[in-house]
Amino acid sequence: MVSTELSPIEKAKRDAAYACAKKHVYPGCKLGVGSGSTVKYLVEYLEHAYKGGSLKDLVCVPTSFMTKKWLVDSGLPVSDLDSTPVLDVCIDGADEVDADLTCIKGGGGCLAREKIVQHASRKFLVIADHTKEAVSLGDRYQFLPIEVLPFASTPVCLEIPRLHGGTAGLRMAMKKAGPVITDNGSYIIDWVFPKQKKMDWKAIQAKLADTPGIVDTGLFIDVVDEGY
Ligand code: 5RP
Repeated sequence: MVSTELSPIEKAKRDAAYACAKKHVYPGCKLGVGSGSTVKYLVEYLEHAYKGGSLKDLVCVPTSFMTKKWLVDSGLPVSDLDSTPVLDVCIDGADEVDADLTCIKGGGGCLAREKIVQHASRKFLVIADHTKEAVSLGDRYQFLPIEVLPFASTPVCLEIPRLHGGTAGLRMAMKKAGPVITDNGSYIIDWVFPKQKKMDWKAIQAKLADTPGIVDTGLFIDVVDEGY
């Protein structure tokens, strides 16, 4: 299942995933596998290498339902954090990556599990094409995804712009059939943060993480070891 005839962006995603996996995934590796279309190429690489015999005893811990399905469909060995609570490496995509390798993630709605798997891993690597690169967060990407318990979603939606500016709204499923539901049964609030002022992302993360009802945010600060 090796991809062919790719657009330049898809090729850049594949190149990033392959280069990262080639350098950092090894036989016996306990690997956290992120979510999103760039990670699909990582799964493609893993399948090829595993079936070719060069990744013997690999163990994969997925960060989302979709990634788990890709891994299972590819015949790769799948585990979870109960059986494999400490991981060697985690590889994940991102929606925006700034010059300090701070990331916004969660465009696909998987941010809390992604952060849990990242935290369980000794090394965290991000794979992204050049359209995700920014000098400062917000240069290219428009919003910060925030996972919230349904019970708290309305007050949290009101509180975020009141405290931090911008606008916030629940992410809706296609055709507005209802809110997007995460793998954890939560909702996603997309916060369109103000672009004109310089944001103190560490302080904002601390404040948001301390808000009752917020599960986590898509901010990944000081955790990326290398970007591809
Ligand atoms: C999912 C994520 C993804 O890693 C992020 O959205 C990047 O996805 P893609 O590789 O499809 O651009 O955080 O919630």
